[in-house]
Amino acid sequence: LTLPAEKNFEGTKSLYLYKGTWVPVSLLRAVDSFQRHFIAQDTDIIVASMPKSGTTWLKALTFSVAKRHIYGPKESPLLTASPHALVPCFEVDLYMKDPQPNLDRAPPPRIFSSHSHFTNLPESIRNSKCKVVYICRNPLDQVVSYFQLVHKFKLHGTPLLSLDECFEKICRGVHVLGPFWDTVLGYWKASLERPDKVLFLKYEDLKEDIISNLKKIAEFLGIPFTEEEEKEGAIEEISRLCSFDNLRNLEVNKNGVLPSGAPNSSFFRKGKVGDWANYLSPSMAENYLKIVEEKLSGSGLTFRTSQ
Ligand code: A3P
Repeated sequence: LTLPAEKNFEGTKSLYLYKGTWVPVSLLRAVDSFQRHFIAQDTDIIVASMPKSGTTWLKALTFSVAKRHIYGPKESPLLTASPHALVPCFEVDLYMKDPQPNLDRAPPPRIFSSHSHFTNLPESIRNSKCKVVYICRNPLDQVVSYFQLVHKFKLHGTPLLSLDECFEKICRGVHVLGPFWDTVLGYWKASLERPDKVLFLKYEDLKEDIISNLKKIAEFLGIPFTEEEEKEGAIEEISRLCSFDNLRNLEVNKNGVLPSGAPNSSFFRKGKVGDWANYLSPSMAENYLKIVEEKLSGSGLTFRTSQ
C-alpha cells in the first residue's frame, strides 16, 4: 500500500491514512466499498460516531425511538439482541463481510451505523433525505475508553505501546478512525448548516438529561412523542430500557458474542463521565485538551470533562 502508515496502539504497523482518516488495515477494504457503493434511502437513519463515544447507547436509543410503534419496550428486540446486531455498522459489520451486501430486504426505517467522517459518507447519504444522528464524547473519556478496550484484548498477543507512546500518537490525531477533531468538526459543522439532516448529541448531555435528549431524537426523526405517549411514560420506559445498568445486565450483553468475534460485554465498561482522571496524568489531559481546543477554536464546539 502506498498510503501513509503508522503503528496502531498494538504496536503493529496497521493504520493507514485514507481520505484523511486513520483506518486499520483490516477495515480498509470495507471502508472503501461502503463509501463507494452504499445507496441510501430517504427513510434511512444513520447513527454516526467515533468509536468509544457512546455508539452502543445511541444505537439502543435510536432503535427504540424509531421502532416504538412496532415493538413496545416489553417486547423490544433489545432484550435479546445486542444493539450492534440490531443496528449494524457499515464498516465493521456489513461491508467487512461482503463488499456489496444486499441491504434492501430490511424494512424501513433501516438503521445503520458508521464511523466515517461526514465528508467521506457516500454522496447518497449526504444528498438524500435520510437522517444522521451523531454522538460525540469528550476526548479524554473517549481515549481512555478506547485504551482500556485495547488493553483488555491485547489483540493477537502483540505487546501494546505504552500509554505515553499512545498519547504521543493521539496528540497527532493518529488513532483508529481519527483524528478526533476532524470527525467531530465535520459533523458539528454539518449539524449547524443542515439541522434537519444532522443531529449532534453529546454523551455528557445524555448522561445529564436523557429525557429531553430522547425527545430531541424523536422530533429530529420526525416522530415526536405524542402527549398520550408522554402521559403513559413511554419516554421514561425507553430511557430505562437503554440505561447502562439495564443493558449491561441483560443475558445477551453479559455472555453474547457478535459475529465479528467481539464479546457484547466489551461495550459496557463503566459508562461514566470523568473516568479519564483515573488513568491520565493532569499534564497529559491538559496537553491533549489544549490541542483539541486549538483545533476546534472558532467552531463554538466545547466539551464537558466532568459530570
Ligand atoms: P467506558 O469505557 O468509559 O465505560 P461505544 O459504544 O462507542 O463503543 O462506547 C462505549 C462506551 O460507552 C463505554 O464507555 C461504555 O461503557 C459506554 N456505554 C455503553 N452503553 C452505555 C449506556 N447505555 N449508557 C451509558 N454509557 C454506555
